[in-house]
Amino acid sequence: MDKKTVVKVEDVSMKFNLSSEKFDSFKEYVIKSLKNQVSYDEFWALKHVSFEVMQGDSLGLIGLNGSGKSTMLKTIAGVLKPTEGVVTVNGNVAPLIELGAGFDFDLTAKENVYLNGALLGYSRKMMDGYYNDIVEFSELSEFMNVPVKNFSSGMVSRLAFAIATIGTPDILIVDEVLSVGDFRFQQKCEGRIRRMMKEGTTILFVSHSIEQVKSICNKIVWLEKGRLKKFGKTSEICEEYSKCY
Ligand SMILES: Nc1ncnc2c1ncn2[C@@H]1O[C@H](COP(=O)(O)OP(=O)(O)O)[C@@H](O)[C@H]1O
Ligand SMILES: [Mg+2]
Repeated sequence: MDKKTVVKVEDVSMKFNLSSEKFDSFKEYVIKSLKNQVSYDEFWALKHVSFEVMQGDSLGLIGLNGSGKSTMLKTIAGVLKPTEGVVTVNGNVAPLIELGAGFDFDLTAKENVYLNGALLGYSRKMMDGYYNDIVEFSELSEFMNVPVKNFSSGMVSRLAFAIATIGTPDILIVDEVLSVGDFRFQQKCEGRIRRMMKEGTTILFVSHSIEQVKSICNKIVWLEKGRLKKFGKTSEICEEYSKCY
């Protein structure tokens, strides 16, 4: 049986408009923008990128800072709409992109568990079922009634990771979030990602550590200045990449 394509990226380009002018005041900006006199520099963060991810693949995205990895992942997560081209996603996506972005810092950890569950589309009852697992995985049992504003960034990340990885999503996006917390916790997170891989979750993965990419991913998308430089098997591409940088 053929494996299904779960993510298809077809000729995707992404343009950001950067204002190239400085304004003396907000008023000047508003007046000029109403008169259509503000000029923008066009910046293409992605240019004509195409690739496909099959079910059960774990795809690593590599490339220097600013090469477009996060922008690519955000178009797949549906956070950004590409300026040109088409992204097709078959299945539900659990995005680990900016951990804690969905938190209300005035609420307690427990309240945030339910808030985030709702954001992910889970009912209160389902979250009741997942609650103990989230508390246990994040190792925050004594802190669940504390407002999250009193948490360290590591605690926030642990809680956010635990919430975002409940259940078995079809697609898990991991954008440089494994460098948070201590080494032991990182190992635990990696273990959970590997468990999902075994259960058939497709992984899209970005990490500072090329070793981590090599150990988790079977395919690689190599981006350079927003363009697809190489797409293929990890063994072939990582060797060449390591020679370049
Ligand atoms: N919202 C935005 N507005 C303007 N420029 C952006 C925005 N998001 C990203 N960029 C720019 O797009 C380029 C690619 O960024 P990014 O996708 O974050 O790269 P990477 O994750 O590979 O480091 C960078 O030059 C970055 O400054
Ligand atoms: Mg990035």
